[in-house]
Amino acid sequence: MPSSLSPTARRRLEAAAKTASRHAYAPYSRFRVGAAVRAGSGKVYSGCNVENASYGLCNCAERTLVFTALAAGETEITHVAVYTPTPTATTPCGACRQVINEFGPYASVICVCDGSERIETTLDALLPGAFGPGNLL
Ligand code: THU
Repeated sequence: MPSSLSPTARRRLEAAAKTASRHAYAPYSRFRVGAAVRAGSGKVYSGCNVENASYGLCNCAERTLVFTALAAGETEITHVAVYTPTPTATTPCGACRQVINEFGPYASVICVCDGSERIETTLDALLPGAFGPGNLL
């Protein structure tokens, strides 16, 4: 279970997600998403969506950031913040839920947007009955 974040740490994580959306490469959807993760070490990493002219290869912000944290040597995801440029908050897509599950099955997930709505949930609530590493022989 992830430890609860202090209000300051939470604000920093949310701000990092919003800042990361500035780096989004989204010329096709024009939907610029940013995400930030607090990894097991306590360090914060961020990511943005990276689209491709071959549309099926577009990568969501959440997956970019999980891969970035892993590539930096992290092994555990404890808190994820997602920012979308929308009036209401949106939760990670199914593919990203599955990828987060691999490293943070009980991660806390905070979704923020341009409006005042925020969603605070957990990965296991978003992906009940997930298939994970423990299901393999
Ligand atoms: N996108 C994300 O980055 N995260 C999500 O959770 C949903 C969608 C991106 C993918 C694509 O670049 C754009 O938003 C439109 O779907």
